[in-house]
Amino acid sequence: MFEHLKEQPQDKIMALMNAYRADPRDNKVDLGVGVYKDPTGNTPVMRAVKAAEQQLWEAETTKSYTQLGGDPAFVTALSQLVLGDAVSQDQLAGAAQPGGTGAIHQAIELVKMANPDATIWLSAPTWPNHPSIIRHLKMAMADYRYFDDDSRAVDFSGMMADLGGVKPGDVVVLHGCCHNPTGANLNTEQWKEVAELLVKKGAIPLIDIAYQGFGDGLDADAAGTRIIAATLPETLIAASCSKNFGVYRERTGLLMAISQDTQRTKAAQGNLTHLNRQNFSFPPDHGARVVQMILDDPALRAEWEAELEEVRTGMLSLREQLAGALQQRTGSDRFGFIAEHRGMFSRLGATPEQVAHMKDKHGIYMVGDSRMNIAGLNRDSVDILADAIVDAGV
Ligand code: LMR
Repeated sequence: MFEHLKEQPQDKIMALMNAYRADPRDNKVDLGVGVYKDPTGNTPVMRAVKAAEQQLWEAETTKSYTQLGGDPAFVTALSQLVLGDAVSQDQLAGAAQPGGTGAIHQAIELVKMANPDATIWLSAPTWPNHPSIIRHLKMAMADYRYFDDDSRAVDFSGMMADLGGVKPGDVVVLHGCCHNPTGANLNTEQWKEVAELLVKKGAIPLIDIAYQGFGDGLDADAAGTRIIAATLPETLIAASCSKNFGVYRERTGLLMAISQDTQRTKAAQGNLTHLNRQNFSFPPDHGARVVQMILDDPALRAEWEAELEEVRTGMLSLREQLAGALQQRTGSDRFGFIAEHRGMFSRLGATPEQVAHMKDKHGIYMVGDSRMNIAGLNRDSVDILADAIVDAGV
């Protein structure tokens, strides 16, 4: 039977991660996969996570099953972190998922069950696993313009023009903050305009929020998501804790389905737990429980928020250092966008050949579309990268 299996295309981010690991050079710089690194190059377990794990280890008396939708206290705590008071709890259905990717996959499955003819709209560009999951689930998809290659900012008029083609019942995937791969984000006014357009079109937004707290702060990063959830009759939100709690391998995420009509919320809840049962039964609990403990305990939460703020401001400082180093070397402000972008990523705007040159000659690994993980830099590698960018002729 296995002879009928076709070779699958490699995920380009995972392929790059493997290539970096296999490179024997000491001076290589990893700006590939979206993982936070501290100035010494480590991805630490956050202090509040370590403390919560210790408390959990002492207090936990069973590893028996939780609930199909995960621990309700986790659903409440994380949904409040994302949504604030934008919607009431009776408008919200939620089920824990294995990571943000699990939440995206489950969201598309839910869409397929409700409306298999929906087209799913993605920003151009987007995280490569979005189209891959949609293709895997055999749903139709379309692109909307998002990034202006010249200004390296959002092409908002292009985005609105393309979203004008959305049909009732179509799903529009939006990055809640810290757009992956570009780093260019909508402002509050633009979020409101998108919300109004989607209402007019009868579309369902699916918000992927995987970097809350990495851009402008926990509430500021959720502002667009809250506008959408409070405005649209129905909204789907896939939230990830991998990055902002640093629990990548624990696979901690949440799928939320919000409806202004509480009967529909109930139907969504039943379908979310049904989907969990079909796909994996109970979602992983360890990461979810640690996140819930941190969010519900004032001392742990204060510790977590302080460390997250260190991470966020550290990335902002690296952005400024890199933009400054390039300004010095080129005498121009054309790399100023790096300091304007937010989150882990910026799209540099280099050609595939220039990206390959930086890898081969300078040991710098960035994704082929020139997405750089800013959190992979430190004081020393900022200069190495700036030299490589100039040497590659970007
Ligand atoms: C990324 O974009 O690098 C991260 O979201 C990790 C992943 O799973 O691709």
